[in-house]
Amino acid sequence: MRAPSETAAGETLLAVEAVSLSFGGVKALTDVSFDIRRGEIRAIIGPNGAGKTSMLNVVNGFYHPNTGRITFKGTTRPKMRPHEAARGGIARTFQNVALFRGMTALDNIMAGRTLKMHRGFFWQLLRHGPAMAEEVEHRRKVEDIIDFLEIAHIRKVPVGRLPYGLQKRVELGRALAMEPELLLLDEPMAGMNLEEKEDMSRFIVDLNDQFGTSIALIEHDMGVVMDLSDRVVVLEYGHKIADGTPDEVKGDQKVIDAYLGVAH
Ligand SMILES: Nc1ncnc2c1ncn2[C@@H]1O[C@H](COP(=O)(O)OP(=O)(O)OP(=O)(O)O)[C@@H](O)[C@H]1O
Ligand SMILES: [Mg+2]
Repeated sequence: MRAPSETAAGETLLAVEAVSLSFGGVKALTDVSFDIRRGEIRAIIGPNGAGKTSMLNVVNGFYHPNTGRITFKGTTRPKMRPHEAARGGIARTFQNVALFRGMTALDNIMAGRTLKMHRGFFWQLLRHGPAMAEEVEHRRKVEDIIDFLEIAHIRKVPVGRLPYGLQKRVELGRALAMEPELLLLDEPMAGMNLEEKEDMSRFIVDLNDQFGTSIALIEHDMGVVMDLSDRVVVLEYGHKIADGTPDEVKGDQKVIDAYLGVAH
């Protein structure tokens, strides 16, 4: 577990209140409430099909909840649209890597900055004056991210040719290019070997420390969850069954019965 001094005690950045979501007859989420404080790493855990990915999809506006509400940076909405979430400072990575496979790592990360670009296509075509200055600034930010993630050596490689662990890192880079206040990570270490997991854990902790980015982290590896997170919310069949520090959650009988009792 992280040292108490590192534990975030910031204001509430995101509040999810009584959110329910159904797909036809399937209840993916039922009356789920939890919050994320500014600066914390918040894990979301639970068995397969518990509703973890659905929760992230509600937070960034891909799905609209049937009931309940979301408050992000003090603004309450029954539903949020993906572009509003992105412009408001929410970025995410996906359970299955979602990159432009034929494009280089550099261009994929650059694509993450689209939202930050103020000048339109016409200006970009002219490539002078303000547009040029803006392009240079974007390049610099992207190069900073590439250095931070230690992927300078693969910046010109099409991502489809990269090993899976590096693809996940490029995807993290694209999310960081949006300079998010809240980063949603859906199983960023799934399918990785031990060394790749350690690298990814380090990047997550470092970006949280250095940039103060708040993070919602879905993860099945309980060692990683215990090491990285400040607080953990546990879902089972779309219901929240526990919420607390890693130690509190680990010792909770409902969590042991639902999730920790089985091998992960
Ligand atoms: N687009 C969809 N259409 C229909 N049902 C869906 C859809 N998305 C999710 N579900 C259903 O909602 C429930 C929760 O799914 P979800 O993907 O959120 O679970 P999860 O906790 O992320 O699971 P996993 O650990 O396997 O990724 C499941 O029963 C799933 O089949
Ligand atoms: Mg999922």
